[in-house]
Amino acid sequence: MKDRVLVTGAAGFIGRAVVDRLKATGYPVLALVRQESDAKVLAGNGVTVTVGDVLCGDALTTAFSRKPAAVIQLVGRHISVEATARVLAFAEQSEVRRYVHMSALGAAQDSRCHYHRRKWMAEELVRNSAMAWTIFRPSVVFGERCDFVKSLELLVRTGPIIPIPGPGRCLLQPIHVEDVAMAVVKSLDLDRDAGKTYHLGGPETWALNEIIGLVERRLGFRKRRVHFPLGLGRMLIAIQEHPLLGKPLRQLYGDITPDRRLNREHLELLREDNVCPNQTEDWARAMTLTFLEDWLNTRNLPPRSGQSEFILGGSR
Ligand SMILES: NC(=O)c1ccc[n+]([C@@H]2O[C@H](COP(=O)([O-])OP(=O)(O)OC[C@H]3O[C@@H](n4cnc5c(N)ncnc54)[C@H](OP(=O)(O)O)[C@@H]3O)[C@@H](O)[C@H]2O)c1
Repeated sequence: MKDRVLVTGAAGFIGRAVVDRLKATGYPVLALVRQESDAKVLAGNGVTVTVGDVLCGDALTTAFSRKPAAVIQLVGRHISVEATARVLAFAEQSEVRRYVHMSALGAAQDSRCHYHRRKWMAEELVRNSAMAWTIFRPSVVFGERCDFVKSLELLVRTGPIIPIPGPGRCLLQPIHVEDVAMAVVKSLDLDRDAGKTYHLGGPETWALNEIIGLVERRLGFRKRRVHFPLGLGRMLIAIQEHPLLGKPLRQLYGDITPDRRLNREHLELLREDNVCPNQTEDWARAMTLTFLEDWLNTRNLPPRSGQSEFILGGSR
């Protein structure tokens, strides 16, 4: 029988994939989620779920009372430091023997990007803890429930132009969510991974402009691209956040969750490349990684009704 693993943020984009991978590998899974609706779905999948907030209340007390042997901490977009501090405190006081932490590629003390500085601070808590830890730093992650690709599809499909903040030349190394989940779950078994920080990137590096090109080709649209300065982007975001003026802009986003819509953090991220310093990390050696273009080409397309005037017939 494998060890019980607690996943915080288990209903999120990466969380779902990690839970599926853990189950497929035979781990009994404990999950902490915020929404009752997510709890029902996971419980239906044989997961023992605790509903609550990592920052307050007694959800963590309940989750840790179920005696996990390992913890995978995935909560952390805007609250990485606070969530990590609290989860670590519980883990250190219990019988947890392994702690796996999801950071982000680019995490650095002196990053220009607030998000990456916060990710570094959370990592520091982990490094200074008494746990046997492994830290993962993924580049942008793609997959079926991913708002990154959904946002690009929305840009490509909606309106007569594609507005792009900045020159769009920043490099990304997109990695498929199941590859991330595979690396995370594998690390639980390998004592040699304790005390290591792994960068997670896909098999190819793309500039943002090139990724938009891939999405355009897949959807069969081609639009004029209009690059605008990041400063103007900040102004657009301020309008978008205005209760009245921003309504039409917000409606364009469809079902994309509010914290994934174009925000100041995205603009900051677009100022830096996001690629792995080392392409031959241990975790990737025995894995066949998914190519972004292949995945886009096998993915079901959403219906294209009402967009006919923008559909491309010919080649680029
Ligand atoms: N996705 C990427 O491209 C990417 C790239 C690099 C690093 N990462 C890192 O990977 C981690 C997971 O990312 P993700 O894309 O899976 O994010 P996500 O889809 O937003 O999932 C995060 C989950 O955490 C839950 N959560 C947030 N605050 C919580 C709280 N106070 N208490 C309990 N649960 C809480 C959310 O619950 P609700 O559903 O209720 O909001 C959500 O289900 C994050 O640390 C992120 O920074 C992601």
